[in-house]
Amino acid sequence: MSGPYTLAKISFKDWSIIGYPFYLEHLQKDLFNLAAIVSYVEDTGWSQPFKWAIESESVQFLAGIFPQTREIRIGSKQLGYELNVLSFDEDETLHEHASRIAELPLENTPTMIKFISHQYQLPLFDGDEFQKVHKREQELAQILIQKLNTYRQSWFERFSDFGLDLTANFMLIRIHLLKFLAILPNLDHDQSGREVKRIFCESIRRLIADSKLAKRKNLKGQKRSLPNKYMLVLKMIYQVAQYTPASWLCYGLRKSVALMATRFIAGVNIKEANTALAELRQSGRDSTIDQLGELVVSRDEADKYLNEVLDIIRGINTGGEIGEKNLAGIYRSHVSIKVSALAQDFKPQDFEYTYNQVAPRLKTILLEALRHQVFINIDAEHYHFRDIVFDIYKKILLKTEELKTYDQTGIVVQAYLRDGIAHLNEVIQLAEMRKLKMPVRLVKGAYWDAETIEADAHNFIAPQFLNKEETDIHFRQLIYRGLQAGEHLILSVASHNIHDHCFAESLREKMFSTAPIIEHQCLHMTYEALSIGLSMLNWPTRNYIPVGDLLVGMAYLVRRIMENSSQVGVLTIMRSHKKGLAFKTPTEVLRQRKSNNQYVNDHSLNFLTKEFKNVFPVRSYLTQHFAPIKDQLTLDLDKAKRGELYFDDGNFEVYASSHPEMLIGKVALDTPQSVALDIEELYQVFQSGKWAIDSCLRFTTLHKLADLILFERNHLASLIMLEAGKTIDEATADVDEA
Ligand code: 2OP
Repeated sequence: MSGPYTLAKISFKDWSIIGYPFYLEHLQKDLFNLAAIVSYVEDTGWSQPFKWAIESESVQFLAGIFPQTREIRIGSKQLGYELNVLSFDEDETLHEHASRIAELPLENTPTMIKFISHQYQLPLFDGDEFQKVHKREQELAQILIQKLNTYRQSWFERFSDFGLDLTANFMLIRIHLLKFLAILPNLDHDQSGREVKRIFCESIRRLIADSKLAKRKNLKGQKRSLPNKYMLVLKMIYQVAQYTPASWLCYGLRKSVALMATRFIAGVNIKEANTALAELRQSGRDSTIDQLGELVVSRDEADKYLNEVLDIIRGINTGGEIGEKNLAGIYRSHVSIKVSALAQDFKPQDFEYTYNQVAPRLKTILLEALRHQVFINIDAEHYHFRDIVFDIYKKILLKTEELKTYDQTGIVVQAYLRDGIAHLNEVIQLAEMRKLKMPVRLVKGAYWDAETIEADAHNFIAPQFLNKEETDIHFRQLIYRGLQAGEHLILSVASHNIHDHCFAESLREKMFSTAPIIEHQCLHMTYEALSIGLSMLNWPTRNYIPVGDLLVGMAYLVRRIMENSSQVGVLTIMRSHKKGLAFKTPTEVLRQRKSNNQYVNDHSLNFLTKEFKNVFPVRSYLTQHFAPIKDQLTLDLDKAKRGELYFDDGNFEVYASSHPEMLIGKVALDTPQSVALDIEELYQVFQSGKWAIDSCLRFTTLHKLADLILFERNHLASLIMLEAGKTIDEATADVDEA
């Protein structure tokens, strides 16, 4: 071994952990992830060596796990460091280390769902005890499909299905349509319609141009060019639009989009949604009214949302008695809300602050609902907000005297999240603490695209499953856990997949017959045949009915279009197969994908290049990332209070911007003379050529410096916060930028 690069070894249980000394030092700060994979290997007797991503205090490493020799080799996340230091490796030790990790075939890596199932002791439903469940699931599915087939679509539904199929089949149409839709409601001020016309024509022009480009590049699949007949139609639309007066065109476009929105949004307000409610009542179904709105940016907007929800609670009319419940024991009058619409300044990093903003409004809603005997459901949103929303809700329920026995409120748990089960366990705990049964809506999750794009762009280990079948399995695991905890939970299953709904019923029937009756939920006009079919089987069925105007509903509409045009989504598949889906459990499908090498792994396991990738950011909304920074900040603050300075290099005193009386360091300021001297010195070094060492050594030294900065990220960020008064996210981003 030569040069400044060495390998070291530490012991962990009876395993050897091998890596660069400074990597190992950092890894030891938080061994939770390492411990989890070691237990997995030991308990399951996993024998093949494999790659795994390990996180320690927000820093990610790539690990090679070698069960036979009980060795774990730690490398940098992209093995970029290794690829650069190899040229210093005379005796090949580093080379061997890096290549042993890099060469491990991805096929050896256990699937994420297997790992999680082991961690939380969840079944994969492939044991003999589930045979009878699957058999009954199939029987029920046959019966349900018969009911479904009696459903006749309206012309409007057929026409909009045709549109959704177009967006599903051609990515170019999807992109340009969604872009246009996102802009349109923001142009409500455009009375003349000139801006709307300009943007519409621009969208069509770009769609045509992109399609031509796709043809030239001979792109296939989703990215392919549009067929000639569509291009012809587009060109005609473009010509007609060009010559149509702006005000007419704009009127027509706004009307068409509003009409399209009615496919998924029941009306601007509760009065308008009444038609949908009446139809539901006639077919024996219940509803949950969702007041559209999320992520508000002003106090007025938050108050407006609050008042709209209160209006619904006071004005809801399900046609039945006040306080009437369905077979699952849940009020027929039911409202769904998004908590991010109840405060303009949601800060997951500051619980007290956010609680004080949200709690008064949320409490008002819950108390009003209690008075009017209405159910309140807390919807799920982006992962960023998941934990804080639950914590606020929990605190209100536990602390508010009047709400202590209110059992007509529940929350959503999303199965696409790898820690969905941990969240469900928290809800079970809350119900246990409250000594009552809480309804929980189980969904797969509507923000998959957003979570995936964010994780890719920022280069962190994704919080969600990357393979659809894993979400499907986890969804069933949540149903299993929910039924197991039947003393504390009532399940509302919201899937849109025929088999999931039948699985839930069959699992209850065969294994958990004492668990409460399951409620089934569907989104308004998303898979109407299924919703009707479920209620024809006398299973309590509830439709999710969004109300609100197009601007606040745009995010909702975009989510619906995305899921209706997803290639792996059940809705697109159902439409193309017309209800005749072959029966295969998600576990079987996943096994097949894995053996065909189609399993999608985290980026961290795939990238072994020197290509630049952003440093994975601190996600301060996660307790495990936030807590060490907070501890560090407390430590540094105490130190500064005691007058112990980190920097004592000169006479210029620096005070904490948040505590102007607190001296945090003394530095020497440069003068024109000292700067001139420094420049002179630099010039001398440049002239001497001393700097011109091996370019690889320079590169590697910088790489090591970057790693050291990364490992000290929390501390450096804490100093930035103290000195410059920046927030956690700003301060850590400053370090990352460096
Ligand atoms: C959403 O807003 C239905 O709550 C779900 O996408």
